[in-house]
Amino acid sequence: MTPRALSWRRRARSPPCFLDRWSRSARPDLEMRTKLRDDGLARPEPPRGSRRRRSPCRAEGQPSMITRVGSITLDVPDLSASLRFFVEKVGLEATESDGSTAYLRADARHHDLILHQSATREAALRHLNLEVDGDLSEHVATAVAAGAVDIGPLAHPGVDAAHVLEIPSGYGVKLYTGMAPVPPPVPTTPQRPFRFSHFNIAVPEVAPMMEFFTAAFGLLPSDWIGSKDDPFLAWLHCPVFNAPHHGVAILQGEPKLHHIAFDYETVEGLIARVDNYVDDSHYLVWGMGRHGTGGSVFAYTEDASGLLVELDSGMISIGDDPRWREAQVWSLDDQRAVDEWGSAIPERWLAKRTAFLRPSASPVA
Ligand SMILES: [Fe+2]
Repeated sequence: MTPRALSWRRRARSPPCFLDRWSRSARPDLEMRTKLRDDGLARPEPPRGSRRRRSPCRAEGQPSMITRVGSITLDVPDLSASLRFFVEKVGLEATESDGSTAYLRADARHHDLILHQSATREAALRHLNLEVDGDLSEHVATAVAAGAVDIGPLAHPGVDAAHVLEIPSGYGVKLYTGMAPVPPPVPTTPQRPFRFSHFNIAVPEVAPMMEFFTAAFGLLPSDWIGSKDDPFLAWLHCPVFNAPHHGVAILQGEPKLHHIAFDYETVEGLIARVDNYVDDSHYLVWGMGRHGTGGSVFAYTEDASGLLVELDSGMISIGDDPRWREAQVWSLDDQRAVDEWGSAIPERWLAKRTAFLRPSASPVA
């Protein structure tokens, strides 16, 4: 075993002897991953401006549920500073603000991120925002039957209707429907992201949370690191047409938000963003590299509050692709799961955490 692999093992679990019960699993089917990546992901992203018109196709036999992991709502210590970061460094564009809540978009949707000025001036995750189609009340009922707590409806700009739930470990989830389209943005240099990509949250036990996301929201596992019974890290996708490899990542640990991510059309655009981010006081937390799980080229940045923000390009699309029926398991020993190009996870990356707020009876967007 290489020193790097040993390093990954050491960081993955404590105490290290806990890892001894893992057997080295077969390497996931990288041939298929490479084909998905090289043939234009089988069904490439639609051209700019047409995405919102594509109808998601639910996989046959799947229960009704979310069609997109759409955005996230954050409380931030300094709204002006966070707006500067997400506009100037990430490339989002503000669509609406009332002075205490700001909506930012990546492309032709009303928002891909909501920022709320914290009354206590502390950074915190408020809601994980999941898009549904059809009858919102049916989706709420399915989630409640799976174990979510019904907090109540919520009206806010940019969507037809929204409803807040509390899910296991206390995270707030907002289901919404009818996101308003906005005119396509003026192209920018460096490139702007084209969508919110995913969030990564930590829980003490990953497997039960995976089961909950499947039962409550219809998401399906994409990859696991460790084992299916007791994974260290796992990813889920929406089983709808052309959906990316993951919209949700779940990490073993104290319940907190680990990171959020945005997707860029091209690696060149991503590099331009990294060049725009890095200066005498800002350096990447990790990257650039290429994740084995999902295949995206990544760079991890942070905002002024320490929130970890991943910039991605090239994540494979699996959605309802019949070639991706089985989630794949990566050994904890296999460094390529986290970076095919060989870097190890930095301690600083692994230690990143942002607290969350339990949903209240009078929630904000
Ligand atoms: Fe990520």
